Amino acid sequence: MIVPAKLMQRIAMATLAFAFSTAALAQSAPPAPAKPPEVPRAYIPGLEQFMGWIQTHHAKLWLAARERNWELAAYQLGELKEVMGDTQELIPNYKSLPIGEMIDAVITGPITDLEAATEARDLKKFIAGYDKLTENCNSCHSAASRGFIVIRRPTASAFSNQDFAPARK
Ligand code: HEC
Repeated sequence: MIVPAKLMQRIAMATLAFAFSTAALAQSAPPAPAKPPEVPRAYIPGLEQFMGWIQTHHAKLWLAARERNWELAAYQLGELKEVMGDTQELIPNYKSLPIGEMIDAVITGPITDLEAATEARDLKKFIAGYDKLTENCNSCHSAASRGFIVIRRPTASAFSNQDFAPARK
C-alpha cells in the first residue's frame, strides 16, 4: 500500500504532538502525596457489640446475686453502668433514635434501685429491681423495632469457668 505523502506528514505531526503532550503531563504531574503517618485507626464498636457486653453483665449480675455474692453483684452493676455509659457516649443516636437519652430514661432508675438492694444485701428487693431492669431492656428493644430480642432472667450459667459463689477467704 502506498501512503500518500500528505497523510504521512499528518501521522508524523500527530505522533510528535502526542509525545509533547505526554512530556508536558509528566512535568506538570503533582508530586506524590506524602505518606500519611501510621496511626492506628479509631475503632468504634457497633451497638450490637455493646449490647453483647451488656448481656454478659446482665447475666452475671443475676448469677452473682442468686449466690448472694454481693461483692460480685456490685462489681457487675458497676460494669453494666460503665458499658451503658460508653454506649451513650459513642452511639448517642442509632438509626434516628436517641439511644443515649433512652438509656437514661429506662436504665438509670432500675440501676439505682439495684445498687441500693445490693448495698442492703436484700435479695427480694434485688429480684424486683432486676425484673424491672429486664422489662426496660425489652421496652427499648420494642421501641427500636427490635422486639424480637427478648431478655429474661438467666435460667443457668453460660459461664461454667466462673464460680459465682462468694470466694472462701
Ligand atoms: C436504649 C435502648 C436499649 C436498651 C435500654 C437496651 N437495648 Fe439491647 N439493643 C438495642 C438495640 C437498638 C439493639 C439492636 C442493635 C443492632 O441491631 O445493631 C439491641 C440489641 C440487643 C441484643 C442483641 C445483640 C446480640 O448480639 O444478640 C442483646 C442481647 C441486647 N440488646 C441486650 C440488652 C440487655 C440485656 C439490655 C438491658 C440490660 C438492653 N439490651 C437494653 C437497644 C437497647
